[in-house]
Amino acid sequence: MSLLITNIKQLVLVEEKPRQAPLRGAELSHLPIIENAFLLIENQRIADFGPMTACPGRADLTLDATDRFLLPAWCDSHTHLVFAKSREEEWVNRIKGLSYEEIANRGGGILNSAKRLQETSEEMLFELASERLAEVAKSGTGLIEIKSGYGLTVESELKMLRVVRRLKESSDVEVKATFLGAHSVPMEFRKGNRQGYIDLIIKEMLPKIADEGLADYVDVFCEKLAFSVEEMEEILEAASKFGLRPKVHVNQFNCMGGIGAAVRHGAVSVDHLEVVDDADIEVLSSSTTIATLLPSAPFFLQDHIPPARKLLDNNVAVALASDFNPGTSPSGRMPFVVSLGCILMKMLPEEAIQAATLNGAFALEAANDFGSIARGKMANLLLTKPMPSLAYLPYAFGGDLVDKVFLKGKAI
Ligand code: NIG
Ligand code: FE
Repeated sequence: MSLLITNIKQLVLVEEKPRQAPLRGAELSHLPIIENAFLLIENQRIADFGPMTACPGRADLTLDATDRFLLPAWCDSHTHLVFAKSREEEWVNRIKGLSYEEIANRGGGILNSAKRLQETSEEMLFELASERLAEVAKSGTGLIEIKSGYGLTVESELKMLRVVRRLKESSDVEVKATFLGAHSVPMEFRKGNRQGYIDLIIKEMLPKIADEGLADYVDVFCEKLAFSVEEMEEILEAASKFGLRPKVHVNQFNCMGGIGAAVRHGAVSVDHLEVVDDADIEVLSSSTTIATLLPSAPFFLQDHIPPARKLLDNNVAVALASDFNPGTSPSGRMPFVVSLGCILMKMLPEEAIQAATLNGAFALEAANDFGSIARGKMANLLLTKPMPSLAYLPYAFGGDLVDKVFLKGKAI
């Protein structure tokens, strides 16, 4: 089955020769585009593309894309999409003046989600998560990372990761799984027995997860209200023995040295970075670790905005992701994340789009198949409604400009 898309106003993020490393610093602002283009899909993959003057003119199906833009589908490299219940009551309490940390310290936040998840069946979690995944696919997400971390017991962490495995098997969105047992220390371990929980992660959860092949990555929430740098290092060290590379939550509220430690442990990405110091930037500019920024979290929490400009000016590889979760980012819509990248973090539309596609794919080590328009890559694409310019997409924030999404070559 072949599909030929013709008269595309702009074909965005084309690569004649696919990159082997993420875009860094100034590279993100150079967005390769073909005006008035065609694209041919064959056997789920991008078979050919180019200017209309070179259009082959023959396929099983043809789609006219006059006035529309064709982009690679979003690569959302950081989400917590499996959860049992929303948490709008905590959000209302924050409107009334409580902070995220205060709510967390009272047993709300992640522990609240964990309690709900422990009580919910795998079947129900799968249904809820499938609906959310279908929803984000409609806004153009074609590759997604999904974390555990609302289980916090051996049984419930495994349950979450089995849900993620079922999503992998059932969805046309490409899914990667991350084990985040170290998301929060359960109450019963908090007084004098933190090490007991870390031992549970290392000695029970990790071996079982590895045995069932349930995770692609390991994550730790390195933060004052969660795990220290030393605790993170102990967990990353143990996970590396099972072949799991880190993608970690660091520097959301405090600079604690987590970035340097994660980079030393070979982290694929360090995520959040609402607060960073000069030493952190120095480390990132001379490493291959990707800085994944999640602007909807500080937008929702009204917190510090990650210094995207400073990171880019220092030649860091920056990716954008949604952080879809019930506590700090109850939306997984990547077009809005791209808008926030531009509005809150002063990224150029070109930078934000590449951070949310190609660099997101590199943050999941999946850029050989996803993240750009290149021959042989998976035909995971999004077609916009008619728009005056590419910048209009992030500019018209909250709008519904994604018209059609193709996953593995098929319109969804
Ligand atoms: O990425 N910061 C840690 N984890 C999530 C929030 C989890 C929650 O509040 O449920 C985040 O923001
Ligand atoms: Fe997160």
